[in-house]
Amino acid sequence: MITTKDLTKVYRTRDREVTALDGVDLHVRDGEVFGVVGQSGAGKSSLIRCVNLLERPTAGTVTVDGQELTALTGNSKRAGKELRRARGRIGMVFQHFNLLSSRTVLGNVELPLEILGHSGQERTRKARELLDLVGLAEKAGSYPAQLSGGQKQRVGIARALAGDPKVLLSDEATSALDPETTRSVLQLLRDLNRQLGLTVLLITHEMEVVKAVCDSAALMKGGRITESGTVPELLATPGSELARELFPVGGVPSAPGRTVVDVTFHGETTTEPVISKLSRTYNVDISILGAAMDTVAGKQVGRMRIELPGSFEDNVVPIGFLREQGLTVEVAAVATPAAGAASEAGSRASGAASPDEDEAARAEESAK
Ligand SMILES: Nc1ncnc2c1ncn2[C@@H]1O[C@H](COP(=O)(O)OP(=O)(O)O)[C@@H](O)[C@H]1O
Ligand SMILES: [Mg+2]
Repeated sequence: MITTKDLTKVYRTRDREVTALDGVDLHVRDGEVFGVVGQSGAGKSSLIRCVNLLERPTAGTVTVDGQELTALTGNSKRAGKELRRARGRIGMVFQHFNLLSSRTVLGNVELPLEILGHSGQERTRKARELLDLVGLAEKAGSYPAQLSGGQKQRVGIARALAGDPKVLLSDEATSALDPETTRSVLQLLRDLNRQLGLTVLLITHEMEVVKAVCDSAALMKGGRITESGTVPELLATPGSELARELFPVGGVPSAPGRTVVDVTFHGETTTEPVISKLSRTYNVDISILGAAMDTVAGKQVGRMRIELPGSFEDNVVPIGFLREQGLTVEVAAVATPAAGAASEAGSRASGAASPDEDEAARAEESAK
């Protein structure tokens, strides 16, 4: 539904250049909720503004619903008109709502309908219908100042739906809201996604948002997408930073001479008693150092950090057993008795590669 190819955006100011997007290939499937996460300055807002061409990309292409928007260039009347029409089918929701304070709630939703050329009566009918859809029918006559943050964002969403879009773009739509309101706005986006078959591309810096509503996610860093996939795919990818941030597990080895592994459960495996099977089959004592269980996109998922006695070599077979059960297994730290064991196991979550981790990678590599 949304595809970008080698999308590049360079901002040029008088004295410097900033490369906000550095060759972004994004693919959002029809009907999915896709989350882009990343720290401030990663290029998330630039990406979303380039997708609906509020911002002209420096290079690369943007295709939405089969139409290459970046091809609609030039100042000809026709190109301008086509671009406006294409943009009308892409709704946009902003962090700070961007409502007109002088207009009522109804008036705010009527505005884009006015621009789209709907007549007075038709405008009011459609705006009321949209307010009903977002659960705000009774606030039609109120002014933005009389609304809570969550209600303002609902107006913002109703307004974004004015052109019957196929795609909704949301830039940090819940960042200014408290956790409970965030949940209800996310639920609304999910409902609209299901009811209207709306494809949603949302940008956030909160992992909770991804957990709550996203089918797929991508991680952005320094203007590039470093990871991307469906949430189950990400969870099944060893070394995935997104998976780790979605399910942070802590815990350091209890003593030297142990092997620490992170196990990710998803799908069927969440209900299987694999750990006790492992313990019985190989007669090993297993300690659980940390664990996190949650529901992602309606499915049970979890991660667990466990500790096995002995070196990696001693545990090749049990680790293979876990993999055979369909679990994703990553060796977080390997016993290195000489160096005082794997005390850095917890540092994975920070993204810093520790020497122990390198060792773990080497040990695993040599075992293949
Ligand atoms: N209009 C602009 N002019 C110049 N630099 C900009 C502009 N918009 C964004 N940037 C720069 O581009 C980079 C990416 O910004 P942005 O896309 O807003 O990231 P994010 O939304 O992830 O915080 C930042 O370094 C930012 O300062
Ligand atoms: Mg931003």
